[in-house]
Amino acid sequence: MDVVVFENSAAVAAEGAKRIRALLGEKPDAVLGLATGRTPLSMYRQLAADCEQGRVSFAEVTTFNLDEYVGLSAGDRQSYHHYMNRELFDHIDIDQSNTNLPMCEPGGNPLSVGPRYEAAIRAAGGIDLQVLGIGQNGHIGFNEPTSSLNSRTRVKTLTRETLERNGQYFDDADGQPLVAVTMGIATILDATAVLLLATGQDKAAAIQQLIEGPVSAMWPATALQLHERVTVLVDDAAASQLEKRDYYDWVGQQRQRLQTQFDGE
Ligand code: F6R
Repeated sequence: MDVVVFENSAAVAAEGAKRIRALLGEKPDAVLGLATGRTPLSMYRQLAADCEQGRVSFAEVTTFNLDEYVGLSAGDRQSYHHYMNRELFDHIDIDQSNTNLPMCEPGGNPLSVGPRYEAAIRAAGGIDLQVLGIGQNGHIGFNEPTSSLNSRTRVKTLTRETLERNGQYFDDADGQPLVAVTMGIATILDATAVLLLATGQDKAAAIQQLIEGPVSAMWPATALQLHERVTVLVDDAAASQLEKRDYYDWVGQQRQRLQTQFDGE
């Protein structure tokens, strides 16, 4: 796992955008796994600006979002579908027919969404880069604590703390769905590479567990320790409980040195 600590959240967002631009430079038709929430917002803004300035194109990109609430229509302004349009898709040159979320419209059967979504990801050739945030309780996607580390896209009941935290985005608490469809942990681990972003003191305990804790369903993000290409971009506050912080900085310096020395060979 590569752990890179930045001074502030703006630098985390800039680095995240840079890595996505680099991937699309190499592979313009890449398949991206995307997250919603507060964390990736600045990175999405940066990518939208980059696209407008011609520094990156999403014209051939396909996307799969991690999760969506059950029973919200795409047009519902509280749906993740709406979030993605508002925060990213409406501002880039992506073909919206290549954007995917595990939607379960009102009245639909949520149990049938997972297998279809898994098949769609496979048909697209798999995810090249999965972008993740992390919950305070260590969830990735909506894989709440005690989720099977071998789970696939399915319906998940949200914990009370997740509902409370995300309740701020709902005008009416009664309208907040209690269940969501989320990619599973095994689905996330299938991605070729993973880019996890975390900022703020409230993520410090989850980040410490993710990087230094034992692999456990109680902290679902720790399953990422089993993946060979995970990069964690954090700000100082989110890194504040890391015991081996000095070592991660040291590793970064060595990586930089090797790249400078051997790049282009
Ligand atoms: C969002 C998602 C969640 C969030 C996590 C952090 O699609 O899957 O796992 O990444 O809850 O949310 P924020 O960024 O709002 O702190």
